[in-house]
Order: sequence, then structure tokens, then C-alpha cells
Amino acid sequence: MSLGTSMIVPATPADIDAIMACERRPGYEATVGRWSREEHLAGMADPTHRYFVARRADGAIAGFVMLQDVAIEADSILVRRIAVAEQRRGHGRQLLGHALHVIFDELGARSARLGVRAYNASGIALYSSFGMREESRREEQGHGSAAITVMTMTMSAETYRQSRRANP
Ligand SMILES: CC(C)(COP(=O)(O)OP(=O)(O)OC[C@H]1O[C@@H](n2cnc3c(N)ncnc32)[C@H](O)[C@@H]1OP(=O)(O)O)[C@@H](O)C(=O)NCCC(=O)NCCS
Repeated sequence: MSLGTSMIVPATPADIDAIMACERRPGYEATVGRWSREEHLAGMADPTHRYFVARRADGAIAGFVMLQDVAIEADSILVRRIAVAEQRRGHGRQLLGHALHVIFDELGARSARLGVRAYNASGIALYSSFGMREESRREEQGHGSAAITVMTMTMSAETYRQSRRANP
């Protein structure tokens, strides 16, 4: 899938530096997790994970998305992590669109799910714009003393197909 100047392609171990830099962008620590090189290498080797990067024409990585719980005809596949190198340039939409295409059209999952902190307005806006909806909320202990509210957002295969018919 391509849009503008970047293409969504499967990630390789050569992309791990760029993926780690993306996770570690200033300000992202409040909204997205970070893995070590070893954790990413293990994830890429794990058949229940899928990684995709947005690769620009000049080869630079504009963002990535990681799926977990991948299996054919899975009940639910988790969008574990998504982050872009530069916000509001359409890469998040491109990456999530591809992730949902893989989840529903290629893997035939019954639903997609993800966790997002309740204060992450840009993440929630992106997911809502695809038709994902809040299913539940839970409190998690943050690094400080304050608890963090994490929303689970989901989308069923039926909702995905309806939205594809409405916006082919
Ligand atoms: C969340 C994130 C992936 C969105 O990616 P992005 O490339 O900035 O978003 P896009 O430019 O593709 O925007 C897609 C849509 O999301 C919504 N959106 C994104 N950022 C928004 C913001 N700051 N305010 C309101 N809506 C926003 C809009 O609906 C937008 O569509 P529009 O441009 O047609 O209005 C990106 O901001 C990011 O990497 N954030 C830091 C890491 C993170 O929080 N990851 C998610 C963890 S759950």
C-alpha cells in the first residue's frame, strides 16, 4: 500500500534502529511503550507478531505499527504499538489502515483491539476516525504515583467491512 511518498512494507531487523528512535521521540514516553533491540528482534522472529514500517522514497522510516496475537481466523488481533516520526502527516492513518487490512482481509480475524491512554487525544482521534470504539476502561499504575486510565478500543470485522463499503 502506498500513499504520497511512503510505502507500508514489512519491517526487517535493519529497521530496528529507526523503530527504536520513533518510540523514543521526545514527548512520546507519555503515550507509547519502548522496547530494547533484543525485544524487537525477538518480536520480529515471533510468528504471532507482525511489524510494518512506512518507508519514504529516500529510505527513511516515517513510522511503524506492530501487531500481536496474530493467527489465521483469530478471535482478536492486538495493535500493540503505532508511532510516527513526524505527526500529522498522514502516516498514522496510512499505517493503521494497512494494519486493519492485514487483520481483517488477510488474516480473517473477528476483531481488532488496542489499548490507548485516555489522555492520548491524537491516538483516540485516529482510531475513532477508522470506526474503532471504546469497549472498556481500566486503571494502570504509572511510573509516578498517579494511576493512568487505559481505554480498550475495538473494531469488529463486520464494522470494518461496512466502513470499507462506505469508503472504498
Ligand atoms: C497517534 C499517532 C500514531 C497518529 O499518527 P499521525 O501520523 O500523527 O496521524 P495522521 O496525520 O495520520 O492523522 C490521522 C487522523 O488522526 C486524527 N488525529 C491525529 N492527530 C490528531 C490530533 N493531534 N488532534 C486531532 N486529531 C488527530 C485525525 O482524525 C487525523 O485525520 P485528519 O488529518 O484527516 O484530520 C501519532 O500522533 C504518534 O505517533 N503519537 C505518539 C505515539 C502514540 O501515542 N502512539 C499511539 C499509542 S496508543
